[in-house]
Amino acid sequence: MNVYDGQRIAAMLTARGMTQTDNIPDADIIILNTCAVRAKATDKVFSALGRIRTEKKPDALMGIVGCVARESGADAFRRVPELNFVLGPQSYHKLPEILENPDTRLLNIDLGGLEKFDSMPQMEKSPRVAYIPIQEGCNHCCTYCIVPYTRGREISRPFDDVIHDTTHAANTGAIEICFLGQNVNGYKYTSPAGKIYRLSDLIHAAAHMDTIKRIRFTSSYPTEMTDDLIDMFRTEPKLLPFLNMPIQSGSSNVLTKMNRPYTLDLYIDIVDKIKHARPDVQISSDFIVGFPGESDDDFNQTLEIARRIKYINSFSFKYSPRPHTAAALMPNQIPEKIKSERLYKLDALLNEIQREFNESCVDKVMPCLLEGPDKTGRHLVYRTPYMQQCIVDSANNSAPEMADIKITAANKASLRGEILGASEF
Ligand code: 5AD
Ligand code: SF4
Repeated sequence: MNVYDGQRIAAMLTARGMTQTDNIPDADIIILNTCAVRAKATDKVFSALGRIRTEKKPDALMGIVGCVARESGADAFRRVPELNFVLGPQSYHKLPEILENPDTRLLNIDLGGLEKFDSMPQMEKSPRVAYIPIQEGCNHCCTYCIVPYTRGREISRPFDDVIHDTTHAANTGAIEICFLGQNVNGYKYTSPAGKIYRLSDLIHAAAHMDTIKRIRFTSSYPTEMTDDLIDMFRTEPKLLPFLNMPIQSGSSNVLTKMNRPYTLDLYIDIVDKIKHARPDVQISSDFIVGFPGESDDDFNQTLEIARRIKYINSFSFKYSPRPHTAAALMPNQIPEKIKSERLYKLDALLNEIQREFNESCVDKVMPCLLEGPDKTGRHLVYRTPYMQQCIVDSANNSAPEMADIKITAANKASLRGEILGASEF
């Protein structure tokens, strides 16, 4: 979501004649697009601001946008007096106001709904992977999560608007569409005529666009995997066989305290249904370790479910108490040392499972999407249908954007492969 927001901000300023620079002393305006989901991310923003204020041109404008802006509000100006603007995740389209009035301070952390989508220019040329937000905010209220506070209540964008953005992306260079939402599979839009549109309708429409070869969506809430959506894995070959569906914990006890009211059996049933629709689907998850009250036994159940589902490409985090959340006030907060030990164990297991999966891909041929050259410029990086990185030896300029690649080697982080030719898919 933040990558997308960053792209929109860049497009907005480019349309006003600005160009991008990575060099702070050259910049006339410095924007930190921020994440507040864990305390560490917020702390990094303020330490970066401390560094940037000494490096920037004295008259350069500096500000924060996104969830830390919403979390901190006016307090950010107190912490960093040099800040010129603080704009929440739903008001960054107001950024031009500070260019017109550079001597004022601009604060807007309103949750204004969908206005930002309509009031900003489209990117002229789409990246190969086009992120298309279909929904803002979240109604789930997991007790650890600051997102319902920073991004507000869930709102689904009108179906026609999403199709308009998807068509524009397809016509200007997109090959992969990634539909985005905090609770993406909860997408539900009722048209003025009373017709209800779901995520499956969006996937179906995108699959009919010729230039689009791959479709995915993130992030999904387990109990919102409706049958029509699961059926897409059976009927739409362009939908990648890879699904991010966070379980967060393998203990029903902890899930209840997290206010994620599903049982492990229900979660496993949903995975089984998806695999029944398309057996080669792989699942990835987010995990939180050290949630308040998490016992050794609870944690072991998380290890057990990770082994059972064989999650690939997952993310694991130490629980971080956040303002405006219920879990921050819960008793039995877990000491940092135990959180670190648990994270280490879980990561070791997830890496092991990932390595096994990567090794099982050797000798297979997969249709992969070109990402670009690697850091050395001597190799090309492709993405497999499971979002694994696949490194190919030639840095040939005529390398196909979609290539059939034979996987020749694997380790825990990436694959190596050989291009057999352009993918027919
Ligand atoms: N502490 C640690 N991880 C968190 N996440 C959300 N809130 C917290 C928190 N307070 C994780 C969840 C979510 C991912 C985006 O971030 O795993 O799925
Ligand atoms: Fe946060 Fe995701 Fe839970 Fe929504 S479903 S409250 S975004 S963790």
